[in-house]
Amino acid sequence: MKKIYIETYGCQMNVNDTEVIFAILAEAGYARTEVMQEGDVILANTCSIRDNAEQRIWGRIEVFAAEKRRRPGVVVGIVGCMAERLKDSLLDSHKVDLVAGPDAYRSLPRLLQDIAPDRPQINVLLSHEETYADIRPVRIDKNGVSAFISIMRGCNNVCSYCVVPYTRGAERSRDPQTIVDEARDVYAKGYKEVTLLGQNVDSYFWKAADGPVDFAELLARVAAIAPDLRVRFSTSHPKDISDAVIETMGRYDNICKGIHLPVQSGSDRMLEKMRRRYTRAWYLDRVRKIRSVMPDCVITTDVIAGFCSETEDDHRDTLSLMREVGYDAAFMFAYSERPGTLAARNYPDDVPPEVKNRRLTEIIELQNTLSLESNRRDIGRSFEVLVEGPSKRNPDEACGRTSGGKMCVFPTGGTPLKPGEYVSVRVLDCTQATLLCERV
Ligand code: 5AD
Ligand code: SF4
Repeated sequence: MKKIYIETYGCQMNVNDTEVIFAILAEAGYARTEVMQEGDVILANTCSIRDNAEQRIWGRIEVFAAEKRRRPGVVVGIVGCMAERLKDSLLDSHKVDLVAGPDAYRSLPRLLQDIAPDRPQINVLLSHEETYADIRPVRIDKNGVSAFISIMRGCNNVCSYCVVPYTRGAERSRDPQTIVDEARDVYAKGYKEVTLLGQNVDSYFWKAADGPVDFAELLARVAAIAPDLRVRFSTSHPKDISDAVIETMGRYDNICKGIHLPVQSGSDRMLEKMRRRYTRAWYLDRVRKIRSVMPDCVITTDVIAGFCSETEDDHRDTLSLMREVGYDAAFMFAYSERPGTLAARNYPDDVPPEVKNRRLTEIIELQNTLSLESNRRDIGRSFEVLVEGPSKRNPDEACGRTSGGKMCVFPTGGTPLKPGEYVSVRVLDCTQATLLCERV
């Protein structure tokens, strides 16, 4: 039996895509391996979001190519967003035998079969229908607690900086019945948490025979499966997150009280140029709505520093918005021009690297303070935590997350805790990244 090895880069959706690929190839008779040196097929499931993501992957492709020189029968392939972005130019280097885009995974068994020396195979067709709805992903998580479920694919927003609409194609939603069935299935297998994934979950929409299903309705259906199945989702778009979604979150205890709401910038001029299609005031109104329904909801974000023509005033607007919201955590990036995007075609990437990096540092330093303040506010509070396993640093301690998604560590108190158990803890102390707790 041939063995397949996959390395996954980029977002949670890519992790889930790798699980889909394993399922498709298992059906075709391939066995999974976690050791590169054992792989007959070595794949990188790739990310194009920023140039440094691609550079890292190129480094790995060199390593795979070296492995192929040692074992000439090995097949090396690039799948995912970089495959879609760079298409057949990836074959020019003669380092890879296979290139497959995000909508081409069903064709992998055939592509692999057709590969021959000097006959690489490529499929980068994007689809308007493919959702892999009928494929039950082979879970690759380690602890059997938390599963990803893709509810839609692609993206119809053309944010000017973003490569995703070009790499993942047009937005399409998946049949809700298949989503609920998959969530039921993982719950029956012992999983205690599902994360519903989409580039913009708030625009999920399915026209069923018995009426339309929007994201609020889908959330309610998944949450109704079992009260001890936690439901998370990512990513929300500030322009689309509806009152109905926020109110549905408030109605179900098992819908986790955490929202990732990428803001990108606090400057209206930048937001307009980024084509985000909301203003700072609109964004702050969404935050107010979330807090009015769920006062303790954890709110996290993404921020881009140094987008085209960004001034010191624009940058200060981002810092002031971060303070105003008081984010619990954030992912923060320097703008990276992506070829072919609206921004690359229309606006010069004119903020000098040292200015971009200085602004990014200021954003990160501010967020470090905000994260610590957020965690300090939790000292003395009690939370229900879903145990993920032993803590990395101390085997006498376990770790798990609050409903909001904050990481907690706490002494097990002698009896080992099983991943997937719920326990109550009280917060005694904290770092910027972790709540240090005791069991209660
Ligand atoms: N440069 C920097 N960051 C980017 N992101 C998306 N495109 C770019 C880019 N060209 C960030 C956004 C997005 C997150 C997934 O990655 O903040 O929300
Ligand atoms: Fe995910 Fe975007 Fe990276 Fe593609 S480019 S893997 S969608 S983060």
